[in-house]
Amino acid sequence: MLRVLEKEGWKDFFVVPRSIDEVMDHFSYTDNEFIMDIINALLSDKTMTKLKDGKYQVLKPLQANGVNFPDIFTKSITDIMSEYADAVPNRLRGEYIDFSGAINLFNWDDVLINYAYEAIRRAAFAFTPEVLNKPGYFLDGGCGTGVGTSAIWLYYYKKGHIHPQTKFKIYGIDNDKNFIEIAKNEFDRIAASHNVIQKDEILQYKEYFPEFKVGTVSDIPFEEEFFDYVYMSQVLHWTDASKTIKEAYRVLRPGGVYFGTNTMVPHTNPYLSLHLQVIEGAQGSFTKEKMTDWLKDAGFSKIKFTTPVTIFRAEKV
Ligand SMILES: C[S@@+](CC[C@H](N)C(=O)[O-])C[C@H]1O[C@@H](n2cnc3c(N)ncnc32)[C@H](O)[C@@H]1O
Repeated sequence: MLRVLEKEGWKDFFVVPRSIDEVMDHFSYTDNEFIMDIINALLSDKTMTKLKDGKYQVLKPLQANGVNFPDIFTKSITDIMSEYADAVPNRLRGEYIDFSGAINLFNWDDVLINYAYEAIRRAAFAFTPEVLNKPGYFLDGGCGTGVGTSAIWLYYYKKGHIHPQTKFKIYGIDNDKNFIEIAKNEFDRIAASHNVIQKDEILQYKEYFPEFKVGTVSDIPFEEEFFDYVYMSQVLHWTDASKTIKEAYRVLRPGGVYFGTNTMVPHTNPYLSLHLQVIEGAQGSFTKEKMTDWLKDAGFSKIKFTTPVTIFRAEKV
């Protein structure tokens, strides 16, 4: 992010104190709210300072002072984040990108298979043990290329649930058709990449494979009370979260559980949230308190969270 702002000319421009109007005019920016989000991140990191007359000045050099990428971030994640950072200047001029518009799909596969996602997925399932103990209709909302979905399918496989006597099915939706194409066509390859069972053996269970379809979690393409479990991992911050949570409630049957993971403020690095906001419709990070309000408004109860990367669960009673 800071590299891109520097290239954009921020360091030289802010050598003298500037008002927001001057910044907007000089760079032909149109998005007042996003510029304030960026400035607030720079202020919180003490990369920028606000003077008494309300103007802003960059403290040289233009570099993060207190914030680092977590060590758990592999190169594939940092590469994707730098692709999003490149989209920031255009976003400031009102131009958004699609989720996968800036993504190299090979990097993405690599990101989702990495340790960070696997670790938080395991934590979410440990926090919600009934999911694997009592199989049912399961929605993986925002399933991407199906890397996480296949890991979940393998959790059920290891528990011995994948057979005709179990009333169980996993559905995956994602609003990105490129990801869904991969999930549909390459489930056996992706599932085999977890190194639990070989591709040949996986193919014997073809009729129990998850069903993937294109769809948004903010308008879930299933009827009311269809699911026993709705899971969303690292998805809410890409959406209008309050609307998405209401949808999760609608498609859950009474007694059903909504659970998953989301990086939330204040744990989120403020620059990370800015990277997310280059995507059309993405709201960025929020607090646990805000999410609790949205869950209650939607009708959920027994709301629980745990940290770090926040794991949540809530019940429709
Ligand atoms: C960080 S990835 C997480 C993927 C997966 N849940 C996992 O944990 O491995 C976020 C996913 O959310 C999807 N997504 C973003 N906005 C969405 C929306 N409104 N509806 C459905 N999927 C969405 C993206 O396309 C992407 O695949």
